[in-house]
Amino acid sequence: MERTVFRFNNRNEEYSVLISERFKELIPEAAAMLKGHRALVLTDGITAGLYLEGICGALSDYGIPADTFIIDPGETSKSLNTLGSVLRFLVLNSYKKTDFIINLGGGVVSDLGGFAASVYMRGMNCINIPTTLLGMVDSSMGGKTAIDFEGVKNILGTVHQPSLVLCATEFLTSLDEAQIRSGCGEILKYSLICGRDLLKGYESTGAVSAEVIFECCSIKRDLVCADEFDKGIRHILNLGHTFGHAFEAASGYGLAHGEAVALGLLAEARFGAAIGVSSSETADMILEKLIKIGFSPNYERYAEKASRLIVHDKKSSGGRISMPFIGTDGKPRIVSVEISDAAGFLAGSAG
Ligand SMILES: NC(=O)c1ccc[n+]([C@@H]2O[C@H](COP(=O)([O-])OP(=O)(O)OC[C@H]3O[C@@H](n4cnc5c(N)ncnc54)[C@H](O)[C@@H]3O)[C@@H](O)[C@H]2O)c1
Repeated sequence: MERTVFRFNNRNEEYSVLISERFKELIPEAAAMLKGHRALVLTDGITAGLYLEGICGALSDYGIPADTFIIDPGETSKSLNTLGSVLRFLVLNSYKKTDFIINLGGGVVSDLGGFAASVYMRGMNCINIPTTLLGMVDSSMGGKTAIDFEGVKNILGTVHQPSLVLCATEFLTSLDEAQIRSGCGEILKYSLICGRDLLKGYESTGAVSAEVIFECCSIKRDLVCADEFDKGIRHILNLGHTFGHAFEAASGYGLAHGEAVALGLLAEARFGAAIGVSSSETADMILEKLIKIGFSPNYERYAEKASRLIVHDKKSSGGRISMPFIGTDGKPRIVSVEISDAAGFLAGSAG
């Protein structure tokens, strides 16, 4: 079992991300934390069918009874309506601040459940059990929670850290190819940030190991713990995301989050080379990697629509946006760019 610890020195708080092949190895630490408290397992319909009975059974073996709450699978559940129904359950069942929501599923479940945990009684506990690759390497840790509102993705959100994250790679075996690719998009981002090829093993075996998930979590930990509220250095984790979010929206959310990020990594690297902050070798290397891991690296079909959407990016201000790039020295750096330049680059690559 591997362990990454997120430590927030400013308020003397920390939590662990535990990573193993088998969920069974991870449950004792969760059970110890849950003892004497109530637990609500929040999950979606698909994940429930696969893993809910097993998780509740494992908790029950440790004498921990759990309530369950099942939401519809998919992004539409990140809504005020579903949030309201989760909160209503907590109120009607007299949950306390010291009780736990256990988010079992991908980023949709942890974004919604984390949000509910952050506002219920001004903050109750939550434990994340990610079951998607994207969840294990990204969305289950770092504390960002969100729901969508009035058609705008992640427009309502909070920062609320979980108390524990349990990643068991055995859950990855039931994911479809698109979901694995989506997680690989984020792993490629971490590879670029740390300058090491974290996808080599996946290329040869077709599986992502617990060690690689550990590496990704550790990179995220270093950046989140240095800048929990995303005011500076944490922006590096946004590599590929400025264009990626625009491609995701331009595809009508047909592209999974990590798939859009992967295309964003390529397009941003080419943009970086065009404005002289990155080298074109970085873009060439990303293109080669995307093809090797089974992506169709063709973002051009989304580029025209994305060029119009990017003007409304939530992170822009005064016509500029801070974007991370891999610099010519191979290290990540944050550069303030004119939104109109980014939009112009995308419009120019439309095909
Ligand atoms: N908070 C953050 O830091 C952060 C970071 C990145 C992404 N996100 C958010 O995460 C969401 C995307 O997360 P996601 O990619 O995990 O998608 P998801 O949660 O929608 O899960 C994808 C699909 O896989 C199914 N599924 C989950 N686990 C499974 C398993 N083990 N086997 C088979 N099917 C399984 C789900 O039911 C769903 O249909 C987006 O809403 C995005 O905005 C949040």
